[in-house]
Parts: sequence; structure tokens; C-alpha cells
Amino acid sequence: MSVNKDQVIEALKQVKDPELNKSLVELGMIKDVEIAGSNVRVTVALTMAGCPLKDKIKSDVKAAVSKLPGVDQVSVVLTTMTSAERAKLFGQEPSEMEGMKGVKNVIAIASGKGGVGKSTVSVNLAAALSHKGFKVGILDADMHGPDIPIMLGIKERPVGSKGMLFPLEKYGIKMMSTGVLAGEGTPIVWRGPLVNKAIKEFLGHVAWGDLDFLIVDLPPGTGDAPLTVATTIPIKGVIIVTTPQKVALSDVRRSVGLFLKHDIPILGIVENMSYLKVPGSEEVMDIFGSGGGEKVAKAFKLPLLAKIPIEPEIRKGGDEGKPVALEENEKSSAFYELAEKVMDILEKKSQVQKDKTTG
Ligand SMILES: Nc1ncnc2c1ncn2[C@@H]1O[C@H](COP(=O)(O)OP(=O)(O)OP(=O)(O)O)[C@@H](O)[C@H]1O
Ligand SMILES: [Mg+2]
Repeated sequence: MSVNKDQVIEALKQVKDPELNKSLVELGMIKDVEIAGSNVRVTVALTMAGCPLKDKIKSDVKAAVSKLPGVDQVSVVLTTMTSAERAKLFGQEPSEMEGMKGVKNVIAIASGKGGVGKSTVSVNLAAALSHKGFKVGILDADMHGPDIPIMLGIKERPVGSKGMLFPLEKYGIKMMSTGVLAGEGTPIVWRGPLVNKAIKEFLGHVAWGDLDFLIVDLPPGTGDAPLTVATTIPIKGVIIVTTPQKVALSDVRRSVGLFLKHDIPILGIVENMSYLKVPGSEEVMDIFGSGGGEKVAKAFKLPLLAKIPIEPEIRKGGDEGKPVALEENEKSSAFYELAEKVMDILEKKSQVQKDKTTG
């Protein structure tokens, strides 16, 4: 005898949302139950994208339904509630960019190409600004390779409540990673409109609190992913990271074009792995050629914000989860110069804005 839908629903009434402590059925989280012989598929709508409890909910549903006689296989499909459903559940839906309300300046770090040091620049700029006394957060929006938690030495997973996710904190820097959108052991497949929807929901529901700066490590390239993030968050400016090689530079051109096309302001260019200081001498070696950053900067009339040397301590800091720019010294000075430039530009910008509104 095969199982029927009512029996499955009955069994699911025993499964509670661990945070809200009510049954998934009562909460309206069970979207669909499909039965084919002894196979059951349950679709569960989570209260938020990237819900930290999703793995637990999934295994609880599986366990409850598996117990029923006549059931061989249970699969669980996870989706996310719509805004309207969430509003019904919580009485009030957090407005779309609720979590961003207290964030003053969002700075996105982009690159036309992977592996040029985008994440390294992101964490070290965050560390330098934090060292200067600002309240800083960092969002790892590069879901293909969420490296920021590693670079900050963060292993915990964030917790959530009432549809909001709380960032983790290390060295006084708040951090959230799109890595939490992927289930444990689930390969991350990112394509099309589903990605955009997930990113948007996710971005709106991180409770950053008050921040002077939010640094966003964008996905590399000039495709959909960086653009979705960049057009979803209210960005003050983008910093484009490149290395001096020719290939990297043609990618930068495309990247600059992409942001300009969408009226997203670019603060300037950072040339990473610019040169190598020869230990024990004043000599400097241009490993990847020289003048590349200057050329692009000039071509697009953008400032060259910093030239960051190839420095073993920079790589080590990333690998060990202790960014070199947590301290201001000779090895980290390029990131402090970058931080100064960024502050200058933003100050000038806000002055222009002020002049516009008062004058
Ligand atoms: N200036 C530097 N000196 C020495 N090592 C560096 C420097 N910049 C980056 N690295 C190292 O190069 C590697 C790539 O850097 P990073 O991960 O920041 O690049 P990315 O652009 O974020 O790459 P991806 O596209 O994979 O996300 C890392 O191992 C990092 O530690
Ligand atoms: Mg990276």
C-alpha cells in the first residue's frame, strides 16, 4: 500500500522550525508534496535565502517522512518564501534593503579577471580602514570562490532570526559570505534568474547595523554575477583591481565599460603585484611588466589609487587568516595609502553633493 499526501502532511506536523519552534506545516513552509509510488518529494520554503538552519530542516523532514510505512525514498527541495509570505509570517516584511540602512559607504572591489588579488585587496582595505577607527564590514559576494572567511580566519557559520542574517565578526570587522547560500556539500550552481533572486534576497537581509564602510568582494569577470550584485546594492564606488600584464589590462577595459554603462561610479584602479622589492636593497623588480595600471588609468581618466608590491607577507596573511594590514607597517603601507585615497575621494564626492544641495 502506498503512502498518501495526508499522511505525509500529518508526519510533517511533527517537524518544527528550530528557530520559530512551530511546525513547518503551521508556518506555511511546506509548499508541495509529490508522491510517486514509494518516492516522496517535499518542497520546503525557507524563511530566508541562505538560512543557517537549512541543513537541519532538510534532515528533519527526511527523517519524519522516511518513518512512514510505504516510503522508500524522500527528497527535499528547498526554496525561499516570497516577500508576501514572509510578511504574513512575521507580521511585517523587512524592507528590501533593510539591512543596509545603517551603512554609509559601500565600496565594491571588482576585477575583469580572477586571481589578480581582489579578495586580498578587499580584506586589507577593510583592515586598514578598521585600524583607522572606522566601523567596517566586508561582504564576500564572490560565490564561485568565497575566500574572505579564510582570509579572516572565520570558521563559524552565521545565525539568523526573523528573516535576518547576522554577520560574523573578527578583528572588529563584520563579515558575511555568500558561501552560506550553498548547502553543505552541495555544489554551487549559479545561473540565470534564480541566482539574481537569491543574491537580491540575501543582500537585503543581512543585519549589518551601523557601518562607515562596507567592502564588497565582487565575483570576477564582466558577466551577470558581478553586475547583479553591483546593481542591487547602493554602491558609492567601485575599485578595479588589476595586475600589470597585458591580458589583465584588456579585461579591466571591459570591466570599466561594464560599470560605466550602468552608471556605477568607479573610484579608480589598483595595480596589484606591481613590483617586487629586492630584499636587502633599494632595488625594485617589475615582474609582470610596468606602467600597465598607469596606462588604463590614463585611458579612462581614472585615478591610479595604489600600486601594491608582491610581498610574501601579504600572501601569508591571507593564508593564515590574519591580514597584513591589521597593523600599519612597511609591509602593509600600500593598503593604508589606498585607504587614504579612498577616504579623500569619498570626502570630495560628498562635498560636491553638499554643494549641489545647498548651492
Ligand atoms: N600583493 C601580493 N603579494 C603577494 N601575494 C599576493 C598579493 N596579492 C595577492 N596575492 C596572493 O595571490 C593569490 C590570489 O589572490 P586573491 O585570492 O586575493 O585573488 P582574487 O582576485 O580574489 O582571486 P579569485 O578570482 O580566485 O577570487 C592569493 O594566494 C594571494 O595571497
Ligand atoms: Mg577572490
